[in-house]
Amino acid sequence: MRILITGGAGFIGSHVVELCIQSGHQVLVVDNLLQGQQENLPRDVPLVRIDIRDPAFSSIVADFRPEVIIHQAAQVDVAAAVADPIEDASVNIVGTLNVLQAAVRSGVRRVVVASSAAVYGEPRQLPVKEDHPLRPISPYGLSKMAVEAYTRWFGEKYGIEWVILRYGNVYGPRQRAVGEAGVLARFLAAMRNGCRPVIFGDGKQTRDFVHVFDVARANLFALTRGTCGIYNIGTGQEVSVLELYERLCQLLGYRGELAYGPRRPGDIQRMALAIERAMDELEWEPLISLSKGLEELVGQSDLERQGRGGS
Ligand SMILES: NC(=O)c1ccc[n+]([C@@H]2O[C@H](COP(=O)([O-])OP(=O)(O)OC[C@H]3O[C@@H](n4cnc5c(N)ncnc54)[C@H](O)[C@@H]3O)[C@@H](O)[C@H]2O)c1
Repeated sequence: MRILITGGAGFIGSHVVELCIQSGHQVLVVDNLLQGQQENLPRDVPLVRIDIRDPAFSSIVADFRPEVIIHQAAQVDVAAAVADPIEDASVNIVGTLNVLQAAVRSGVRRVVVASSAAVYGEPRQLPVKEDHPLRPISPYGLSKMAVEAYTRWFGEKYGIEWVILRYGNVYGPRQRAVGEAGVLARFLAAMRNGCRPVIFGDGKQTRDFVHVFDVARANLFALTRGTCGIYNIGTGQEVSVLELYERLCQLLGYRGELAYGPRRPGDIQRMALAIERAMDELEWEPLISLSKGLEELVGQSDLERQGRGGS
């Protein structure tokens, strides 16, 4: 299958690219490399460096003639969205509109779109099901809500199949140590570099941590399964930021100090995603437990450090 992946040079996108290539698909990556990196991509995967809002994006889609567009490109930082909601809306909403319009013009069969648990806002009950009311408390959650609504509208108006994946807190190799989603990468980087890890708020806030490999698998399954649907992609497990920190301390033998910062605007207090719908309709389930994912991540960053030390 010919698949165009926006944001394919980013953290999650690059794992989706890898899995699609391994599954024998033909991939074109579109990324402006603002956060993404060419080095994240397997060798020989073609990359067009362009902003998804650029009018020329449409002709790239027309030339490649993809059957499916997997849309990962976004402004992903909750704090940045609070500071500059116009830029967040521009990338996430206008950018997605440009992607959807290009998909219509080129006769794309299906779009698979990355959304976020941030669309729910503060949950009324846990784990959160897909039909929970959407009351985002950040501009980022709001822009993702609009992304979802436009995706659905384009699908219904132009007969394009669509799948929306609402991710929990994704973690794993190649994650940057920035943003609220990257809490694990931030902790790891601080512990490794002898800086004090910082918890924003009291650390009792909970998240549903899902491994990037499982998220990539959900995208792969969404190429052919789950026509016109919205799916939570998480684990159903609620883990506090403090617990995550303590588990990392144990794994690394870290005994340094911890710092607390103010709770950040736009951050929700609790989250765990109900994943039964994805299990039923995408025939997907998370395969990597948090324990296994953390162990691998710690082991891998050890190897990276040794590699750096030797070069
Ligand atoms: N990481 C998480 O925990 C998480 C949680 C929920 C949802 N998501 C969603 O998953 C998707 C991927 O996120 P990620 O964590 O891999 O972030 P990321 O920043 O690593 O990846 C985003 C990619 O999009 C590219 N990009 C950004 N703006 C662009 C633009 N205007 N034009 C072209 N390319 C652009 C970046 O260069 C980057 O490579 C996003 O849609 C994000 O909202 C991520």
